[in-house]
Amino acid sequence: MSNELLKSDVTAEALIAKAQRDGVETMWDRKAAQKTQCGFGEAGVCCRICAMGPCRVSPVPGKGAERGICGANAGTIVARNFVRMIAGGASAHSDHARDIVHAMHLASAEGPFKIRDEAKMRRIAAEWGIEAADTKETYALAHELAEMALEEFGKPFGTQRFLTRAPQQRQDIWKRERMEPRAIDQEITTIMHSTHIGCASDIDSLLNRGMRASLGDGWGGSMIGTEFSDILYGTPKACASESNLGVIDAEMVNIVLHGHDPNLAEVVVVASKNPELLELAKSLGAKGINVVGMCCTGNEVTMRHGIKIAGNFYQQELAIITGAIEAVIVDVQCIFPALPALAKKYHTHFVSTSQKAKIAGDMYIEFSESDALNCAYGIVKTAVENFANRDASKVEIPNFKEPTIAGYSVETIIDHLDKVVNSQLEDKLGTVKPLSDVIYAGVIRGAAGVVGCNNPKTEHDLGHVTVIKELIKRDVIVVVTGCAAQAAAKVGLLTLEAKELCGRGLKEVCERVNIPPVLHMGSCVDCSRILDLVSRVAVEKGVDICDLPVVGSAPEWMSEKAVSIASYVVASGINTYLGIIPQVLGSVEFTELLNEGVRANVGAVYVFEKDPLVAVEKMMVDIEEKRTALGI
Ligand code: SF4
Ligand code: FE2
Repeated sequence: MSNELLKSDVTAEALIAKAQRDGVETMWDRKAAQKTQCGFGEAGVCCRICAMGPCRVSPVPGKGAERGICGANAGTIVARNFVRMIAGGASAHSDHARDIVHAMHLASAEGPFKIRDEAKMRRIAAEWGIEAADTKETYALAHELAEMALEEFGKPFGTQRFLTRAPQQRQDIWKRERMEPRAIDQEITTIMHSTHIGCASDIDSLLNRGMRASLGDGWGGSMIGTEFSDILYGTPKACASESNLGVIDAEMVNIVLHGHDPNLAEVVVVASKNPELLELAKSLGAKGINVVGMCCTGNEVTMRHGIKIAGNFYQQELAIITGAIEAVIVDVQCIFPALPALAKKYHTHFVSTSQKAKIAGDMYIEFSESDALNCAYGIVKTAVENFANRDASKVEIPNFKEPTIAGYSVETIIDHLDKVVNSQLEDKLGTVKPLSDVIYAGVIRGAAGVVGCNNPKTEHDLGHVTVIKELIKRDVIVVVTGCAAQAAAKVGLLTLEAKELCGRGLKEVCERVNIPPVLHMGSCVDCSRILDLVSRVAVEKGVDICDLPVVGSAPEWMSEKAVSIASYVVASGINTYLGIIPQVLGSVEFTELLNEGVRANVGAVYVFEKDPLVAVEKMMVDIEEKRTALGI
């Protein structure tokens, strides 16, 4: 075993041992090869923004160079690096969303892209002020709405349309702070401009711009990604699935869908049910075609089709090491460049499909939305044919999997609440009032969104699982997305039975509403569902988001996208607890700004806490203080 951090994960243990027997490397080997990681980079004080550099300044005041050649100090360098991470993350979420909207622009009654949630489309069309939104012909409206959404990325005037979903108090804060995001692309471009050599050096101004771009992600790109995916592929409903590498089936053709974009995954799921391909699989000795998900592409198809979850970010190599994967089909984001070489050590085809994520050494089959079904058919056929090349002596699938319930969109949560209040109370149906009432009554103390990735700086999944278990024990309902959701799934937390791990109040709510205490709300872009849910509670109670006993948590984050998410969650008024410390500690001033200073601007802060147990204690103090301030 290359890393002691693996000690508690038996699934990983078995496959890491197999990796060693098979002579293949994993991320833990490469992590070990890095030895001690660069201290300047870790502190965020290395700058290579211009060719006078790279410059590195001392993370310790009074020791070594305090300024880069242009005169930038630690604060400026750290702040520029941090907000460039936001720009990277916001661009990834938003560019993904743009692809979804383009697919909707191609939608037609004949398919393959169809309008599957027409009611939602009409609701959003009305929200955005389209005339006759309730009567227009379905596809005429779809195309008009898609064009409007595409304009959100580059419109020359105005701010993001979905901002008006936030409570008025929050919108007023954004206006006061000049933080209302304009066009999504503009905010990202502005960051790249502001952080160019010789532009912004003021850390408050840099963070302000970073937060504005992150809001353009959360309330712009990500929210568009979520809502338009729902229109196109259906709004998720609670559905049963299974999770962990044990869902890989030795007797089937196994296809792993990895990445983030549902456009490709949706048609691969359709193609995998094609009778000709099923016949081909059987003719080669397989019992069928088993499509499984990984990372957020997995979450997207789990939420809508119950597709089984093979694993989260850290398991992408382990899945191939089982020796039972005919193809890993990837779209964009969070895909290790190491995968093609690893796949070649087995019989696995590593198929990349997007120009945006062309990966050296791949089998490249470009996915085109305009020829989606043919494209997916070809990719799945390649996988099926590869079954003949499987080497049975190399197959070892850990026998671990857990039942999982996913699919808790805001609409589904409201639907569950409606079923409870329907017969008894005078509560309005179709609102979050029953949820906000149980929080205000103290039956549930508060709510937490636990999101984000895995990171080999910490034991994978341990932070997610510890934070979630400790919160539900303390009567805090938890919503999850991304790899955090999959971590919870793999230990059985996304089940009705998980109520047994809850405090008395939350257990009672789970029983009455018939939900797990941990609600899988989707992929990383679906953190926008969390914003929507929290906003509805705040609006319903007439308070701002920052007044509510609600926290955000990213125990094991690693990506730029996570920095953008953390930033828009904070800018939306929710204290956000990060289990991995961002690369900012080289500037005392910027660290203080994140941890405390920004509270004066947006009413929330970034909290750094590596220890998940201590983090939960801090979250509970936070939640109880909010309750006291509300007088509840
Ligand atoms: Fe050095 Fe300034 Fe150039 Fe950064 S921008 S590399 S600190 S000279
Ligand atoms: Fe993700």
